Amino acid sequence: MAGDDINRGLEGVPVAATRLSSIDGETGELIIGGFELPELATNATYEETLYLLFHDQVPDSEELAAFRTDLAEQRSIGPAVHAVLQRAAEEEKPAMDALRMGAAAANLGHEDGEPDEDAKRVIAAFPTIVAAYWRYRQGNEPVAPDPDLGHAANYLYMLTGERPAEAAVRGLETYLNTVVDHGLNASTFTARVVVSTESDVVSAATAAVGTLKGPLHGGAPGPVLDMLQAVHDSGDPEGFVREKLDAGERLMGFGHRVYRVRDPRAAVLSAAAEQFYADGGDSDFFETVVEFEDVAVDLLDEHKPGRRLETNVEFYTAALLHGVGVPRDLFTATFGVARVGGWMAHCLEQLEDNRLIRPESKYVGERGRTWTPVEQR
Ligand code: CMC
Repeated sequence: MAGDDINRGLEGVPVAATRLSSIDGETGELIIGGFELPELATNATYEETLYLLFHDQVPDSEELAAFRTDLAEQRSIGPAVHAVLQRAAEEEKPAMDALRMGAAAANLGHEDGEPDEDAKRVIAAFPTIVAAYWRYRQGNEPVAPDPDLGHAANYLYMLTGERPAEAAVRGLETYLNTVVDHGLNASTFTARVVVSTESDVVSAATAAVGTLKGPLHGGAPGPVLDMLQAVHDSGDPEGFVREKLDAGERLMGFGHRVYRVRDPRAAVLSAAAEQFYADGGDSDFFETVVEFEDVAVDLLDEHKPGRRLETNVEFYTAALLHGVGVPRDLFTATFGVARVGGWMAHCLEQLEDNRLIRPESKYVGERGRTWTPVEQR
C-alpha cells in the first residue's frame, strides 16, 4: 500500500539529538550517559543512574543523599489512585493497564509543578502503583513505601511485604539500570512526541506506558518465561523451537530492530542472572535458559539465513526478574518502572530545545469522490 518513498516504521531516521544513550546496532555497543552499559549497570544504584540522566554527571554523596530523599518522599499515591488500582485488580486487568490508569491519575492530589519536579514524582510513584495493584490482585493490603530503602529494594519490599535479600536488590538494580534508556525506542519516542506539543510529563508517561505494553516492545518477557518454563519441563528445546517456527510464530526474546548482533543488554542481564542463580537460585532452570539460547540462535539462523536473530533484552529479563522474585505478570510493568526514568529524562531534554514533532504521511487514497445521499446508496 505504501509507496517506496515511505519510511515505514521510521527505521533509520534520526529525529532527536540526545546525550542520554547511544546504540550501535552493528557492534552491539550501548552507552548510557557516557558509560559503557556494563560499567554503569553493574555498579550504579538506580538513583545514581537517574541523577546521571537528569544532570549529565554522577552525584557526589551529598547530592545523592538529597536526590534519594527527594524521590523517597514522593513515593506515596493518594486514595483516589488506590481506588483505581483496586478496581483494576478486581476486574483482573493486566498490570500494564493498571499502570497506565495509575500513571494517568498520578497528579491527583498534587499541584502541577515544573516539569523536572513532576518528572521525579512520576518516577517515584511508578513502583508504588505497580506494587499496590499487585497486592490488591493477590487479595492483600498494599504495603506502604519505606523511605529508608532505596528505589529498587523498596519496590521488592512493597511487592512482598518482606525486606529483600541483598542479592535480589543488586539483581533488580542491575536490571533497572540496564533498561532505563535505549535511544529513540517506540515508548520514548511517544513520550517526546507528547511533550513536544507542550503537553505535560504525566501525559507523556501515560502514553508511553501504552506504547511499552505491546509485544513488539515491552510485552515479550512474560511469554519468554512461559516458553522457558515449558522447555524446562519438556527438556526438548529443539523440538519446541522447531514447532514454533514451523507454525510461523516468532520466538519471543529474539531479534531486534537495531541490533544485528546479540543485544548488549542480554550480556549484562545474563551475567547478573548467572550470578544470582549461582548464589542459591534454581540453577537447573538457569542451565535450561542458557541451553535454549544456543539451540534457538542456531535454528533461527537456519530459519532466516542472513538475518542475525540473537537474544534481545527480554530473554534474560525473564530469567533475571523471575529469579529475584518479580511475578511474571509484572515483568512488563517492571520494565515501565525502569524505563520511566529514561522517558522523563527524554521529556526534559526535548523541552530544553523543543520543536513540535510532526512527521508527514503520504496520501494513497481516492480523490474526486462525489457525495451521494445515504438513501440513494
Ligand atoms: N522469531 C522468528 N522470526 C523472526 C523473529 C523472531 N523473534 N524476529 C524477526 N523474525 C523474522 C521475521 O519474521 C521477518 O521475516 P520475514 O522477512 O520473512 O517476514 C524477519 O525476521 C525480519 O523481521 P522484522 O519484523 O522486519 O524485524 P523488525 O526489525 O521489524 O522486528 C522485532 C524486530 C523485535 C519486532 C522482532 O525481532 C520480533 O518480533 N521479535 C520477537 C518479539 C520480541 O522479542 N520483542 C522484544 C523486542 S526487544 C525490546 C526493546 O528493545 O524494546
